[in-house]
Amino acid sequence: VRKVTVNSILEMKATGEKISVLTAYDYTMASILDAAGVDIILVGDSAANVMAGYDTTLPITLDQMIYHAASVSRAIKRAMLVVDLPFGSYQGDPYDALKAAVRVMKETGAHALKLEGGIEIKEAIKLIINAGIPVMGHLGLMPQSINTYGGYGLRATGVHEAHKLNTDAQLLHELGCFAVVLEKIPAKLAKEVTDHLRIPTIGIGAGSATDGQVLVVHDLLGLNKHFKPKFVRQYLQLDQLITSAVQQYIADVKAVEFPNDSEQY
Ligand code: KIV
Ligand code: NA
Repeated sequence: VRKVTVNSILEMKATGEKISVLTAYDYTMASILDAAGVDIILVGDSAANVMAGYDTTLPITLDQMIYHAASVSRAIKRAMLVVDLPFGSYQGDPYDALKAAVRVMKETGAHALKLEGGIEIKEAIKLIINAGIPVMGHLGLMPQSINTYGGYGLRATGVHEAHKLNTDAQLLHELGCFAVVLEKIPAKLAKEVTDHLRIPTIGIGAGSATDGQVLVVHDLLGLNKHFKPKFVRQYLQLDQLITSAVQQYIADVKAVEFPNDSEQY
């Protein structure tokens, strides 16, 4: 199989082929997504929410991200593996950011890292890229900054924030990022950024003009019926399928219908 690399991702923007991205946090799910042909698998710090049950992405540690990323990495044959640097690991001293980045690369087999922010983390991005590590940017709604926003609402609705986003996107491009995630911003702004950038944009809640789309795999599969924002399309109601399977199992155990004659030694 031809592996997806930074070059293939850049090529896809040039040829107009849309880029498909999904999150994964464990070996089994990543095996399925990779075999299904998704272009990029993102080990997002959304693991803090969907794997660990936290309200925000802030608590997840670098060690925990490395555990998830190494698990996913063992499953991948074709997809490009991008890993989020967690909150606190790159916003301070740029050399600490580089150390965190190097740890993830050495210990997981990641192909690239994702960091939230623009000009504020310029030096960290520079050092990481100079070390030969491809970086995916992330602008718009940046969940690691939730305490600054006060909520998970739409970002960049005003001219000031929209202008900063445009400037940051251009900066990320100039710094050498190979792609940038645009989260929860008006579709019109996402199109404008996408049209002015030679590197691909990957949208989530950012409309259809971006060069690719990313979703949290649990959202796509309908594993959490209580989380259904407008930008999510549930391709399955997997929570219902699991619930009925488990209920059937419980009933079979109670009725001594499981195991049957052929299911024992
Ligand atoms: O952590 C995550 O899942 C993400 C994507 C939603 C872009 O950053
Ligand atoms: Na993330």
